[in-house]
Amino acid sequence: MHLLDSPIRSEELLVKTFGIKHRFYASSSEPLSHKELIELAEKHGDRDLIDLYNDHSLGYAENSGSLDLRTELATLYGPEIDADNIVVFPGAQTGMTLTTLSLLRPGDHSIVITPSYQSLEEGIKIAGSDFTRVTLSPKNNWQVDVAAIEAAIRGNTKYIVFNDPHNPSGSLMSAQTKKELVELAERHNILLFSDEVYRLLELAPKMRSASIAEMTENGIALGTMAKPFGAGGTCIGWVACQDKDIIEKLRKAQHIFAVCFARAGEIQAMMVLRVRESIVEKNMNIIKENLALLEDFFAKNGDLFEWMPPQAGGTGFVKFKGPLTSDQLAKELLEQEILVFPSSIFDCEDELKQYFRIGFSRRTMPAALDAFKEFVDERRESWGFPRS
Ligand SMILES: Cc1ncc(COP(=O)(O)O)c(C=O)c1O
Repeated sequence: MHLLDSPIRSEELLVKTFGIKHRFYASSSEPLSHKELIELAEKHGDRDLIDLYNDHSLGYAENSGSLDLRTELATLYGPEIDADNIVVFPGAQTGMTLTTLSLLRPGDHSIVITPSYQSLEEGIKIAGSDFTRVTLSPKNNWQVDVAAIEAAIRGNTKYIVFNDPHNPSGSLMSAQTKKELVELAERHNILLFSDEVYRLLELAPKMRSASIAEMTENGIALGTMAKPFGAGGTCIGWVACQDKDIIEKLRKAQHIFAVCFARAGEIQAMMVLRVRESIVEKNMNIIKENLALLEDFFAKNGDLFEWMPPQAGGTGFVKFKGPLTSDQLAKELLEQEILVFPSSIFDCEDELKQYFRIGFSRRTMPAALDAFKEFVDERRESWGFPRS
């Protein structure tokens, strides 16, 4: 498949709706400002990083990510991962696509767990690899079915791709399921690519299990500054992996596509990482407050919507029980300047045509929910449901 054959559906929609009033779909945490970051760094005593930022050269930075940033990123993982096990990319999306292009060739087979972030599948198509989708279902709380994955394995299966914590449903793979998946991958010598961009946003820290990169040499984990920290503007994503041969391939791919990153973004990312506990705590408080509002709304509107409370991340997948598909609903919402992601963004199977994604990690969510409430109240009767 040619690179331009499948534009990224969400990005196409976002370009068209850039100035929209209510971003009820948004998935990354409340954006940090640079001023706020400097204040946090000062309070934390990270004068070295502030000086580094003020004095840094605008010349080329180290390709594949500067050593100081990779050292700081390695602190997110256990002893299995150090700076040499990390390759930095200009954002997680670039990381996932280049990793897939580096590791797959035509004739290989992959398994993709869906619904999922589109680029997870596009890289496989561009690499010319055949693939099988294994679909998550609300019937088992969006949990991965390891037996279904095993049934999809062929002699040439090389790669299993999934996203955990899961966008759009907000589900989290249990430690036991992850263990079974690792055993399966090791038995069949298959690589596990785990998009972990929503990691650290578990509703309770004890729900967090090990990263796939810590668990097995077959594991490749993807991370980003955007989702947990609200620092997507640093344009820093990364891949962590124990296998140095894979790391070497990723470094080469990185050399082909970018000479280096903005050093400013790297230093800002280091500042974020040093104070990450307070940033994540602030972001989790926003998420929890927003979830309480959503719980209340969905409890009062249970005739119209099915809501499965998420376990992690900033997104939930809601079922609309009214007479429209989620795409029709989203189109009407758009006319009222409310943006949600309908099922077509995730190229969902028919079973999921009534589902749409909402986001709840921003301070602007309560206003979006108020506008959504008004929209719903105005249409209830025309949809054949009693006035609330
Ligand atoms: C599951 C998932 N992976 C990756 C990305 C891309 O992350 P980044 O913005 O860091 O490129 C997103 C963004 O929405 C996402 O939801």
